[in-house]
Amino acid sequence: MTSVLIDTAATEPTAPTTPSPFSLSDRTIAITGGGRGLGLTLAHASVEAGAHVACLDILPAPSPAEWATLISATKLAGVTATYHRCDVTSEAEVDSILRFISDAGAARGAELRGVIACAGIQQKIPAVDYPATEFERMLKVNTTGVFVTAKYAARMMMERGVSGSIVLIASMSGQVANRGLTCTAYNTSKAAVQQMCRSLAQEWGQDGIRVNTLSPGYIRTAMTDELLATDPTLETTWMAGALLGRLGVPDDFKAPAVFLLAEGSRFMTGADLRVDGGHCASA
Ligand SMILES: NC(=O)c1ccc[n+]([C@@H]2O[C@H](COP(=O)([O-])OP(=O)(O)OC[C@H]3O[C@@H](n4cnc5c(N)ncnc54)[C@H](O)[C@@H]3O)[C@@H](O)[C@H]2O)c1
Repeated sequence: MTSVLIDTAATEPTAPTTPSPFSLSDRTIAITGGGRGLGLTLAHASVEAGAHVACLDILPAPSPAEWATLISATKLAGVTATYHRCDVTSEAEVDSILRFISDAGAARGAELRGVIACAGIQQKIPAVDYPATEFERMLKVNTTGVFVTAKYAARMMMERGVSGSIVLIASMSGQVANRGLTCTAYNTSKAAVQQMCRSLAQEWGQDGIRVNTLSPGYIRTAMTDELLATDPTLETTWMAGALLGRLGVPDDFKAPAVFLLAEGSRFMTGADLRVDGGHCASA
């Protein structure tokens, strides 16, 4: 196994304050793309809701400041956080690391019952110039990587005989073509994730495994900072569709993600939860 493991020991648990439909206590949640940005924020949200978390990312180590904040939250909640270096395009790595996380969760009485597939990449190239090899790389990370994550997460849950919730991070770009952005491969990869969700939900519902997509609008993260650096006028274009007068921040997705993972959404599967500040509601 090629993972790098950073572990934090559980401390004395405090009384849970989260209402039960939104509680993630007594379970482990694995988050790909959990080394920074949205993924690490959603790991924090899971900890606040009472979960033990395992973050997987291709980065050698998580973003230090954000990780330190997560560790403080684990100490308050009496849960653990682990970090595992993992490339979601490697089926062998995802298999062995999720198995390790599932076994560790079972051993501490907190089965792996939730996964957020958040790892992703973005690239802005005009379609007429888009190299097919780059197009394939985008699909490999954003679509196949999400599939492989969901596949092994579901397999671990089936082997352990536990129910679970799998949240695939898609994008509003799976449904609309963003003005000003030449991102055909990215948009295609996210539309594929939305359809993958419906197919997996259809296959795994009888096993007690729910699958939903969470589709964000524009969020200020390293990913969008890179796009804005190449073309600062983009922000004006994006703000024209911002019905709430601002772009998103990672914290805006904490409650939607926890809702999809927790029992409060127990009758929801094969659905897309779009959280975009109203962007897709107006033309
Ligand atoms: N930022 C936005 O506006 C926005 C909007 C809609 C959807 N999303 C989606 O949200 C998710 C998180 O994006 P973000 O904005 O936090 O960007 P980000 O670049 O900060 O985070 C993406 C993470 O995925 C990791 N990653 C990339 N390739 C990987 C691989 N092969 N294996 C494992 N990890 C890998 C990166 O190292 C990074 O930590 C992505 O799926 C993205 O498409 C973002």
